[in-house]
Amino acid sequence: MATHMGSCRTALLLLAWIASWCADALSIAPPFQRVDLAPDAILTTTYAVRAEPGTIVTAVAVDCACLKLMTPLPATVGADGTLPLAFRVTGMRPGVEDILVATSRGVARAQLQIVGPGAGRGRDALAQVLATAGRERLTVWAVVHDLRGQVRHCGCSLGALGGAGRLAALPALTATLAGDVPVRWILTGDTDGMRPGVGAALATYGWSIGAPEIVVSADPSSLLTRPGILAIIPTAAVAMQHQRLLRPVLDSGLAVEVLLVDAAGRLRERRTVPVDDSVPDEPALAALFRDVLTSRIDPASNPSQSCIGCHASAGAAWAQSRHARALDSLKPDDRTDGCINCHVTPVAPAVVAPAVSCQSCHQGGEAHAASQGKLRTSGTADCRSCHDAKHHPAFRFELAWPKILHGREPAVRSRP
Ligand code: HEC
Ligand code: HEC
Ligand code: HEC
Ligand code: HEC
Repeated sequence: MATHMGSCRTALLLLAWIASWCADALSIAPPFQRVDLAPDAILTTTYAVRAEPGTIVTAVAVDCACLKLMTPLPATVGADGTLPLAFRVTGMRPGVEDILVATSRGVARAQLQIVGPGAGRGRDALAQVLATAGRERLTVWAVVHDLRGQVRHCGCSLGALGGAGRLAALPALTATLAGDVPVRWILTGDTDGMRPGVGAALATYGWSIGAPEIVVSADPSSLLTRPGILAIIPTAAVAMQHQRLLRPVLDSGLAVEVLLVDAAGRLRERRTVPVDDSVPDEPALAALFRDVLTSRIDPASNPSQSCIGCHASAGAAWAQSRHARALDSLKPDDRTDGCINCHVTPVAPAVVAPAVSCQSCHQGGEAHAASQGKLRTSGTADCRSCHDAKHHPAFRFELAWPKILHGREPAVRSRP
């Protein structure tokens, strides 16, 4: 199945590319949806094609068996300018899926993110890959790109996020699952980020940093025909698809891109193995790399104080929220550049306050306070800038806002 995916993706990307210039007055609502699903759960979700009445929807392309169109096609956009499309979604594969809708007036695109615990998926997916490799005498290349040091077994997500400890445990797990299958563990890109030594620490568990056969490049097209290259990881957005182009995602949780390679060095198949809590952890790993903190945490600083005097009820709601104690969740070892960002508020150059304060969300709050409320604030931060797919995949605005409710219902929300 996975071998056919490349060509299917080629078609999708071409469609998306065309869509970018002929999608005027044609859209899909909502452009993005997120569903939270257990691996074996099923639900139906609907998108609406918005276009001139009479527009004919001819085809819908999706890239994952986890999504199935239930609306018969072709279908015609009604007099109200909309056509609902129903999809059956199964939680088998967490990730972001493209939905491309071809119509008589061009192509429109929407996305669906499936989040879920992925329980049992990582270990099962790995066992399957190893079984295939053993049967067909293939070598497994397991590739992780750009960890940026932002991992640890950190509990910073209830979702499908593993951590460096789980990566460390993979080689040993593989040996117990299928000791005779040759596996190469490869880290590419920035493995350390603000946590020097993550790559070196993983190397002590059997990972290697870089491999000449896996190339990271901003110009992959020039490399596709070069011999000896197994896969290319593009660093820029390239509107093309090829079996050898690898786009590893860290955003929807940690995953290992797995290449199955035959004896002649040819790439036979690709799969994605999620690194979730179904694979064991190696807690000793964290002691092997250094963490840096370049800001000073000022425990006495509470920027919210400059607002509470005039906004007492907002202040009371905030004081009860976890935002007011956001640094407390970070273990002392984790109070480092790589982790504190979303858990603190900057108050001066290289000084931070130990909470997500009013000012973390209300931009321009300081100027507003200094003007005694005469200057307006300049808007609120997108919740998703911190509650992102990696650190809080199950975040849902409509469930989260009531927990921090203050003031009126927001006009500008995070994307659903
Ligand atoms: C001196 C009193 C005062 C202080 C201090 C103050 N505000 Fe206000 N704030 C006001 C007044 C007055 C309004 C206008 C209320 C209205 O229009 O109903 C307001 C409105 C707002 C609004 C809604 C309108 C807008 O501009 O977005 C927000 C949000 C807000 N304040 C946030 C804050 C934050 C955050 C702080 C601290 C950084 C703060 N305020 C400090 C008096 C104050
Ligand atoms: C991009 C923003 C962001 C960064 C960077 C970040 N966090 Fe978090 N963290 C969050 C958010 C949002 C939550 C709340 C999630 C929730 O309620 O499930 C959270 C919650 C947590 C919690 C408590 C909730 C739980 O699930 O146990 C811990 C512990 C934590 N983070 C640790 C870390 C560590 C360790 C790092 C660095 C490796 C880190 N965070 C980096 C945004 C971030
Ligand atoms: C996690 C983000 C977040 C934090 C922290 C936060 N707010 Fe808000 N606040 C919002 C959002 C979102 C709204 C809804 C209005 C909007 O979208 O701007 C809002 C609304 C308000 C309003 C009402 C605006 C109106 O016109 O009704 C006030 C006043 C306000 N906040 C003050 C504060 C104060 C004071 C604090 C700190 C004690 C604070 N907020 C902390 C996100 C936040
Ligand atoms: C500056 C980063 C940041 C922004 C912006 C932010 N949050 Fe958070 N939020 C956090 C962190 C970090 C935590 C975890 C705090 C902890 O427990 O350590 C958190 C926790 C929460 C929690 C508590 C989790 C729970 O289930 O009890 C809720 C609810 C929440 N945020 C809602 C929101 C909403 C709604 C918005 C947007 C209006 C928002 N947050 C914007 C950083 C942020």
